[in-house]
Amino acid sequence: MAVVWNKHLVLGLVLGFCLVFSLGELERFVESPKADGSLAFLVVGDWGRRGNYNQTEVARQMGIIGEKLDINFVVSTGDNFYEDGLTGVDDPAFKESFVNIYTHSGLQKQWYNVLGNHDYRGNVEAQLSPILKKVDSRWLCLRSFVVNAEIVELFFVDTTPFVDEYFREPKAYDWSGVLPRKPYLSNLLKDVDLALKESRAKWKIVIGHHPIKSAGEHGSTAELIAQLLPIIQANSVDLYINGHDHCLQRISTSDSPIQFLTSGGGSKAWRGYVSWPNPEELKFYYDGQGFMTLQVTEAHIDVVFYDIEGHVRHHWSV
Ligand SMILES: *[C@@H]1O[C@H](CO)[C@@H](O)[C@H](O)[C@H]1NC(C)=O
Repeated sequence: MAVVWNKHLVLGLVLGFCLVFSLGELERFVESPKADGSLAFLVVGDWGRRGNYNQTEVARQMGIIGEKLDINFVVSTGDNFYEDGLTGVDDPAFKESFVNIYTHSGLQKQWYNVLGNHDYRGNVEAQLSPILKKVDSRWLCLRSFVVNAEIVELFFVDTTPFVDEYFREPKAYDWSGVLPRKPYLSNLLKDVDLALKESRAKWKIVIGHHPIKSAGEHGSTAELIAQLLPIIQANSVDLYINGHDHCLQRISTSDSPIQFLTSGGGSKAWRGYVSWPNPEELKFYYDGQGFMTLQVTEAHIDVVFYDIEGHVRHHWSV
């Protein structure tokens, strides 16, 4: 068969090429460490409740500690807006739960946000929209992406579409951009695996909304244990950080050096639930509100959990 080369065919080939090679890539952002080569950031999760349930108190302490550590940025582990995400880019909840709450001078930094299951109950495109950046320049939310800060690389993973339970109630969630689900998940896992393999950073941290391992009320996520954990184990990831359970915790098992850290104490907490089969592995559990800080150098990582009074509840370093 003779191929007639015309401008439509060439254009089609070029577009096809771009599509194939853009689908398989996580968007990347670059952060520079401080002059002394170190990096510091805060992690908060499960927060957007218009200041209620101690959200404002957590925000105040985040500001004080953030200023003291001269943080580079803030990470949110998702469930950014309760109960059902944002209705649109003009939803007043964006100002009421974010802009007007995290006002401290120590928090005027870039925020890297992932989506939680509650965010998927609203208009997902609204949270991802660059229009929000015009309302508050700190805001950045993507489904999955990479932040490269030289000594440490952060891999943000969209975990909500992994959870089978949410697909039994499909109308409650905004799955546009996710369906068909199977290729979405397999592409995502392939992208994360590739990004981890290509990483030259000393430290690798994976961040998602749902826990892989948790002693909280929601507990461990079977789908992530089956699908994501093998990839992070194979690529010698140092930390997995999540929210979803409204607590602060660290789990460490003897079969792997990975630390499983939960920072989901941004507002409503005190569930009064904790359950883990092996007490030796549950290194720390706090049922109340708070947040986590990470200080990273070429030689070590320092993890500290704070409560709403600014007291250190747990400290761990490697
Ligand atoms: C706010 O925090 C204090 C101190 O931890 C706690 O006693 C109180 O119950 C919290 N309030 C709510 C609504 O969680």
